[in-house]
Amino acid sequence: MTVKRDDWFPTPIWHFEVPNHEELNQKLLPAIYAEREKDSQGVNWSNSLGWHSKDYLNQHPAFQEVIKIAVTNGIEAGTEVGFDLTRFTMIVTNCWAIINPKFASNFVHNHPNSVLSGVYYVKAAENCGGIFFRDPRDVAHIFMPNITELTPWTIQKITYKATEGTMIIFPSWLNHGVEANLSDEDRLCISFNISMTYRT
Ligand SMILES: [Fe+2]
Repeated sequence: MTVKRDDWFPTPIWHFEVPNHEELNQKLLPAIYAEREKDSQGVNWSNSLGWHSKDYLNQHPAFQEVIKIAVTNGIEAGTEVGFDLTRFTMIVTNCWAIINPKFASNFVHNHPNSVLSGVYYVKAAENCGGIFFRDPRDVAHIFMPNITELTPWTIQKITYKATEGTMIIFPSWLNHGVEANLSDEDRLCISFNISMTYRT
């Protein structure tokens, strides 16, 4: 007997290596610290012990280069899974920076009101805390069978190491969090939300 299997409802997580990221990060690093100087309070969203900027950095000239990269990568990601990017295009609707000093982390959360979300790493020392994603199929864990290996079908949580110059993009509804920064250096990243809008 031949068995056929269909896998439905997959969850994509894309990662992009940003070209010339050393140069880009050299410009972004002081720009992020300058934002914290202006607004040391920041906002409380998912951050525990860390600083989270207000979320309109997409309107700030210093962040336009990374916004452009986010849109290009978002279009590539959306096209790949069948979003209509002939009639629509993508825009970054909000963008914010996060500074996680030692022991800071981010609680599990998702990003409402957008289609794709992402993060770009500006400074990420060894052991600065990875980003983890949880299996969105909550009910799939009511019963866990004994398993022989971790596969995309049996894993409950996947962690990506934070790597300078890498951009990760994922569906905005996907729950995620950030592990504690166990290094002695600040961990800096830029996060963003992407929406789709009619091409003009
Ligand atoms: Fe997030």
